[in-house]
Amino acid sequence: MIANKETIKNIALRLSVHSIHLKVFMANSKEISIENLESEYKKQSEKNPKPFVKWVGGKRQLIQQFRERDLYPPEGFDLKTATYFEPFVGGGAMFFDLLPKKAYLSDMNGELVTTYKVIKKDVNELIKKLKLHKKNDSKEYFLKVRALDVDKLTDVNVAARFIYLNRTCFNGMYRVNGSGKFNVPYAANENPLICDEENLRKAHVAMKHTTIKWQDYAKVLEKAEKGDFIYFDPPYYPVSKTSSFTSYTKEGFLEKEQGKLRDVFVALSRKGCFVMLSNSDTPFINELYSNLGKKIRIEKVYAGRAINSKGSGRGKIKEVVVINY
Ligand SMILES: C[S@@+](CC[C@H](N)C(=O)[O-])C[C@H]1O[C@@H](n2cnc3c(N)ncnc32)[C@H](O)[C@@H]1O
Repeated sequence: MIANKETIKNIALRLSVHSIHLKVFMANSKEISIENLESEYKKQSEKNPKPFVKWVGGKRQLIQQFRERDLYPPEGFDLKTATYFEPFVGGGAMFFDLLPKKAYLSDMNGELVTTYKVIKKDVNELIKKLKLHKKNDSKEYFLKVRALDVDKLTDVNVAARFIYLNRTCFNGMYRVNGSGKFNVPYAANENPLICDEENLRKAHVAMKHTTIKWQDYAKVLEKAEKGDFIYFDPPYYPVSKTSSFTSYTKEGFLEKEQGKLRDVFVALSRKGCFVMLSNSDTPFINELYSNLGKKIRIEKVYAGRAINSKGSGRGKIKEVVVINY
């Protein structure tokens, strides 16, 4: 099958996937004609997983914008041989979109990381436990499960509790109090999807060749090699003093941490990696990533969120995307 770059790009945009993926798919299915490419690809992508938790700052709505503007994925990244790193993985929206052959996923949220590991290793047990949570779900039950001491639970129970709380708590938010205890209230949603068995099984398959670690993002510097692709989606620098949402973990992520992250970005770039980073469109962040040489540029994208819900301030928040390719 012969198709030019433009055709592939157009089909990819129509399908809301990226051309690298389509190219890999074409290479693996030589007998498909260009006319059938779209329907065959659709069939195959129905098998793709979605993030298994709702996560504040999730990137699902932004990905199509990244693609349309050629900000992602980097043209030179080889999806079949190089490694994809997501060191602030959260819900992993980019990982589940890209579905690279080799990936290295990490985060400092210990329960989240345990959940990824359990989906990879023990998805059947997890599904059983989630079915039990589903059966027992009520406000009282939620409070009981929330109060459990995670340090005394097995990994499968940690993961089942994590997904259960995420699906039934207010807005799927993850917030901890001063002593690191999850403290989001119950949301009386009708019929929450507590056990999405099909999706968990798909995620399990997608994670076959992943390394999953509970660690600080800076560790990627030791692991990533030339040609690898790293996507940083850190806790954003606050737009204003009151808007700060930095309690994904007990530690905040302010000037000092953002500066350290910028240095890691630059060091990876020097190593020959493809690097991409999201953050808030604030003077501090724009300044931080300015004048770093010709290759590193800042682009603005529109997030789905409104600046505020009433009056003349209504509009879309801008975010920055910093890339070195
Ligand atoms: C903005 S969220 C990522 C959202 C994610 N990309 C998604 O699509 O759902 C930031 C993540 O960074 C993690 N985090 C915070 N500080 C970290 C650190 N020092 N190293 C690694 N991960 C960290 C948080 O636990 C949180 O999951």
